[in-house]
Amino acid sequence: MTAPARAPMPKRDLLGIEGWDKASLERILDLADDYVARNRSGEKKSSLLRGKTVINLFYENSTRTRTSFELAGKRLGADVINMSVASSSVKKGETLIDTAMTINAMHPDFIVVRHPDSGAVQLLSEKVHCTVINGGDGSHEHPTQALLDALTMRRRIGSVEGKTVAICGDVLHSRVARSNALLLNIMGANVRFIAPPPLMPSSPRTLGGEPFYDMRKGLKDVDVVMMLRIQTERMDKNFVPSVREYFHLYGLSKDKLALAKPDAFIMHPGPINRGVEIDSELADDINRSVILDQVEMGVAVRQAILELFNRP
Ligand code: CP
Repeated sequence: MTAPARAPMPKRDLLGIEGWDKASLERILDLADDYVARNRSGEKKSSLLRGKTVINLFYENSTRTRTSFELAGKRLGADVINMSVASSSVKKGETLIDTAMTINAMHPDFIVVRHPDSGAVQLLSEKVHCTVINGGDGSHEHPTQALLDALTMRRRIGSVEGKTVAICGDVLHSRVARSNALLLNIMGANVRFIAPPPLMPSSPRTLGGEPFYDMRKGLKDVDVVMMLRIQTERMDKNFVPSVREYFHLYGLSKDKLALAKPDAFIMHPGPINRGVEIDSELADDINRSVILDQVEMGVAVRQAILELFNRP
């Protein structure tokens, strides 16, 4: 039986959370919920995207995002190509634009791009005819991460409306923080940014978060604690004098978590640095940590995105 055609999404590409409305984001989350159930059943595979091609073009390392897009595409019956930038003509000096136009000439249906430069994915999208999905660009946005985080929260606590989410750590360099703050504001949540002064953006309120420099004050009575990795790859100087001091002041420990609501839960986009931003035992505490749930939601959200952005 053929699945019923769905109304197209209002835009061809998913370049960021910025510019999207609540109804469209909820549509992705609702469908992703269905995919969670299907992935847990024996019937993981469909032929919805048979004949379609997804190209993963990752200029930065990835475990979760790239693998889950590959799984999502394959579970929907698409052909998925993982382009290895390290062994591509990028290493011979081919520019992003030339690479984009070369891939475009092969008529893919989706390109999922991760790039170290903010804005690079938007630039690439202007040179191709297919759907482009941002898999993370510099410190700018990581929209599919924010969507999988929203699905994880929604499944744990219902609506996030009126809930308080603390986003803690290297907010300055984090595309995860930006996309999450945008999405959580659209959904009516309260966002706090907790960071040492050098790792706090210059205009946190413009990004949708209330700044806290003291983690203990920032965690008071929050519903969700979202920890971030220190993005050393985006730092041109030493922002953190010592890992030990950082963990003491801004790492999540049991005593700091006790300041949040009793049922508050811990999120982290991964990869985690145990003992740097989070106590190792807390990261593994299945009653408080939903880090592996986030990974599971990542596949379902990306299946929903591929289905909804698919163009006949
Ligand atoms: N959260 C995330 O983007 O992880 P990867 O870098 O492993 O894709």
